[in-house]
Amino acid sequence: MTGLPEAIGQILFPAETIQDRVRELGQAVSADYAGKDLLLVSILKGGIFFLVDLVRAISIPAAIDLMAISSYGPGAEKQGVVRILKDLEEPIGGRHVLVVEDVIDTGLTLSYLLRHLAPREPASLKVCTLLDKPARRIANLPITYRGFECPDVFVVGYGLDYRQHYRNLPYLALLKSETR
Ligand code: IMP
Ligand code: MG
Repeated sequence: MTGLPEAIGQILFPAETIQDRVRELGQAVSADYAGKDLLLVSILKGGIFFLVDLVRAISIPAAIDLMAISSYGPGAEKQGVVRILKDLEEPIGGRHVLVVEDVIDTGLTLSYLLRHLAPREPASLKVCTLLDKPARRIANLPITYRGFECPDVFVVGYGLDYRQHYRNLPYLALLKSETR
């Protein structure tokens, strides 16, 4: 063990805690969607770390697809307007779509995406997020599955980045304040 990276502060959710919770979520999803055509949809880049662990914890047939988005800038971000850089490859009409997100903060990004996907008339459209940060929520989103409630702090690891770094950490941690 070489210890934590220099910039990493307190660990909020250790790797084993995350893996245990992901296994529970996978079991819940498997039970709820048994016999249904399930499509897990995640958003690049942060969401895919959770997606690949979650789908392997699901015991029923499940397909995956990915979207990539970018915001139009700070002003647009406030309204949750995002540009779709990569749309879904799978048709979703009549299918049970579960959007798998790393973290929901204001909720603006996800509510925009849900409004974008809903007109394609999936049989159902639900949300599974690893972290739920309710403190700064603006858009009121129904969250069906949640890994953990997270305080209003900036976290990195398990897909979450600071300037594209730290996604590969197996735990979720705070950055030391002098780093940001
Ligand atoms: P929202 O539209 O405010 O819900 O934005 C959610 C997005 O903000 C996430 O997909 C992340 O990209 C980013 N984000 C929110 N909180 C954190 C954090 O604590 N660490 C890293 N990225 C975050
Ligand atoms: Mg994200």
